[in-house]
Amino acid sequence: MRINGRTGLLCLIGDPVEHSLSPLIHNTALKELGLNYVYMAFRVSKDTLSQVVKAFKVIGVKGFNVTMPLKKDILCFLDELDPKALKIGAVNTVLNRFGRFIGFNTDGMGVVKALEKNNVKIDGSYIVLLGAGGTGRAIAYTLMDRECSIAILNRTVEKSKMLALEVSDGPAMVEWGPLTEGSLKIHLSKADVVINSTSVGMKPMDGETPIPKSLLRSGLTVFDIVYNPLETRLLREAREVGARTIDGLEMLLNQALESFKIWFEAYPPIEQIKNALEDVRRGYFAHR
Ligand code: ATR
Repeated sequence: MRINGRTGLLCLIGDPVEHSLSPLIHNTALKELGLNYVYMAFRVSKDTLSQVVKAFKVIGVKGFNVTMPLKKDILCFLDELDPKALKIGAVNTVLNRFGRFIGFNTDGMGVVKALEKNNVKIDGSYIVLLGAGGTGRAIAYTLMDRECSIAILNRTVEKSKMLALEVSDGPAMVEWGPLTEGSLKIHLSKADVVINSTSVGMKPMDGETPIPKSLLRSGLTVFDIVYNPLETRLLREAREVGARTIDGLEMLLNQALESFKIWFEAYPPIEQIKNALEDVRRGYFAHR
């Protein structure tokens, strides 16, 4: 990469960002396309967010990604919001369009694209979505436009009900319930796909799983968006019973590709990016 006086800037802001794979993904894509931009990660707290956004505008960044814990807070510093991002109430991608900052959310599309690229059928399928937090909302708002059935299960059952009501005016059939063993048993018996968007299984909760192993079976596709650890207890147990598994790197990759498309109006070639992520995956499994 040759940085010069014309090099443009793309960023990630959040806390923590040190271990993020977004710089790897985007810098690989930029290099592949020979685009004169660099993607940098900056640790930013809620307290300094407004100053950082102002500075981004002054220096004219092309766009930026937003991660935990800023995905909601960023909304009030933007000039415009994509209608879906407004409904979801969270933004992970910002585009600088002629000096105006426009917010988008690519998390839901990242999940749907990851499923489709793994040849998982969405239309006609029964999909159980665990979690109704920011990411769960993004997924539900993307799936609502598809001809599928969705069951939203969440620990705080009122949130699953609220979200189900919000997304029930599209083609998808939507149900809701608590995240209990009884409710899981009912919905998983009909399911083709289950997506975990809760933080259960994420470090430091990595000994835990949102689904008892006895409810997993072959024939089910289990997608865990948690990527720390990469093989969660849920994915390990799903693999052990012969279910198809998709890990959090797939979500990470696909939400990033959607962000890239918003910034440059085209997808990057993904061969090199996939190779870089495979190195990460191999490194992870080699060190266990
Ligand atoms: P994100 O933006 O990553 O989605 P979030 O908005 O804080 O993060 O949402 C976290 C999700 O994980 C929520 O669905 C949360 O359930 P509640 O709405 O009941 O809080 C879920 N979650 C977190 N810890 C959990 C636990 N120990 N058991 C079950 N669900 C949990």
